[in-house]
Amino acid sequence: MPFELTDEEKTRIEEICAQYPQRGAAVLPVLHLVQDRLGHLPTEAQLAVARALDIPPTRVKEVVTFYEMFHEAPEGRFHIELCTNISCHLAGARELMAHIEDRLGIQVGQKTEDGVFSLMEAECLASCGSGPVAKVGVDYYEYLTPEAVDGLIERLRALAPAYEDRVYVCAEGQPHVGPVPGFVPMPAPPDSKKKLPSFEVPGPKGK
Ligand code: FES
Repeated sequence: MPFELTDEEKTRIEEICAQYPQRGAAVLPVLHLVQDRLGHLPTEAQLAVARALDIPPTRVKEVVTFYEMFHEAPEGRFHIELCTNISCHLAGARELMAHIEDRLGIQVGQKTEDGVFSLMEAECLASCGSGPVAKVGVDYYEYLTPEAVDGLIERLRALAPAYEDRVYVCAEGQPHVGPVPGFVPMPAPPDSKKKLPSFEVPGPKGK
């Protein structure tokens, strides 16, 4: 597939590069810029980025294949990344993942037949105090429950026709952060006056 950077992208790349001591150091934001237009990073796009940054194509390839947020092949229109790392795991992420798989009829790493959803397991989305957490585009959905996930899937399915010919990054021009709208299962704050159970730390043998 032939690929050319647009004039706007070339200008933006120069602005980004001006913030770094070397052009090659700008590879992450430049790859995001291109992926936000295409939805993924085919070989031709990776080559164009390498040329624009004056770095070897292998260096771009290494970065694209190392970070899970970059995709070499198209994902679903809405790419759901659910964190299953320790904090989210303790908050029920495993059960939630099973619920999403069941609901979408796919497994982690797959895409729905209509191409609307794809599902991925994420290794910590840096929102550990508000799990389980999922990311779609740049939107963060926190404090997820099965009901909230169902609501989110319905909401995204309704949005899908509007994103047939463009990549979904976020719905309203700025990222969403917080619970799924309409579902606010915020946990009660811990009771600071509650007495914690005491226990004795065993000392060295015989003491
Ligand atoms: S463990 Fe889920 S966001 Fe960090």
